Amino acid sequence: MSALQNRQILVGISGGIAAYKSAELVRELSRAGACVRVVMTRAATEFITPLTLQALSGNPVHLDLLDTEAEAAMGHIELARWADAIIVAPASANFIARLSQGRADDLLTAVCLASASPLALAPAMNQQMWRSDATRNNCEQLAGRGVQLFGPAEGEQACGDVGPGRMLEPGILAHKLEQLFDSGLLAGKKVVITAGPTREALDPVRYISNHSSGKMGYALAQAAIDAGADTTLVSGPVNISPPARATCINVNSAQEMYTQALALVQNCDIFVAAAAVADYRPDQVAENKIKKGDSESMTLTLIKNPDIVADVAAQQQCFVVGFAAETHEVDKYARKKLVDKQLNMIIANDVSDPSIGFNSDNNAVNVYWDNEKTSFGPVSKSVLAKQLIELIAQRS
Ligand code: C5P
Repeated sequence: MSALQNRQILVGISGGIAAYKSAELVRELSRAGACVRVVMTRAATEFITPLTLQALSGNPVHLDLLDTEAEAAMGHIELARWADAIIVAPASANFIARLSQGRADDLLTAVCLASASPLALAPAMNQQMWRSDATRNNCEQLAGRGVQLFGPAEGEQACGDVGPGRMLEPGILAHKLEQLFDSGLLAGKKVVITAGPTREALDPVRYISNHSSGKMGYALAQAAIDAGADTTLVSGPVNISPPARATCINVNSAQEMYTQALALVQNCDIFVAAAAVADYRPDQVAENKIKKGDSESMTLTLIKNPDIVADVAAQQQCFVVGFAAETHEVDKYARKKLVDKQLNMIIANDVSDPSIGFNSDNNAVNVYWDNEKTSFGPVSKSVLAKQLIELIAQRS
């Protein structure tokens, strides 16, 4: 199973003769299971048609920054957040220069500037342009900012010269992109993640639950797998598929999640409690469907569920990370939970903001440990998950 499976990859194409090979790159990425969107510079459209790339990617191609219709459909900020990674292939000398200056004067540079995701460039240009001091300086600057340079290769060039500046072959680019997702930071570690809501039964057909989508926990599981961890998800009922290489244990109630979590923690290095566990459950589950009575009201008695993450932390077996969804005084309540539940780290988000949190694809969080604090986002949940797993790997 490719690490590109279900990844959202943005392929940027700038103006160069190697643009014809981008079609093959889009195919390679799609074949590996990635969801691909293409952004082209105007110069790129002189070398290959947007229609070709639309047909191969199965998505409309994005061209303009200042097109209100296109921006309304999926604007540059949305595209930047959507991408789990960006690869610009070919990256022309001019594109590299504009990027190194931090320009945002067309859609592709604006998306690159607005994205927190890994960015890779596949340079393609005449060998002398590649060797020029200007291009050398620009590439060094970009590499210093964490931009990956894939290639270029040496050999015969379209202009007849021989030397460095050929774009790497699409298969090699796809492979290098795949490797970007495999950091190895948690190689050999066992990670357990709880995710999704729990359902607390009232009778055979009714339950109490919440709106948790499971997206954050599943994204963390994917990021842990990418970091090389042996990853187990203990998941409440959700509508998304678990990452391909995760062991997934499906549960319904908080008590079922508790039993699984407490068993798994005996052999675990890192435990992340991303589930939105119901704090209370009905004290009795009716054997048969509760019938509507004559009374205008109905009283339910609820009893407290065990606090899974607190009991896991009490075992002192592994590094324990909790979540805190707060609507106000985030710092105060998150720090209190960090101490009360004896966690090693807590990740807090403000759920009163509808653009992040529960059902959203994006999230922004504050993370607390010891007396320290750092913030991430707003970014896509998959990019955030990668950043969180890097932090957890450093601290654990
Ligand atoms: O106390 P509160 O529910 O706000 O704490 C949230 C954190 O505690 C989350 O990490 C959640 O997964 C975990 N939790 C738990 N078991 C519960 C309630 C919350 O593991 N019964």
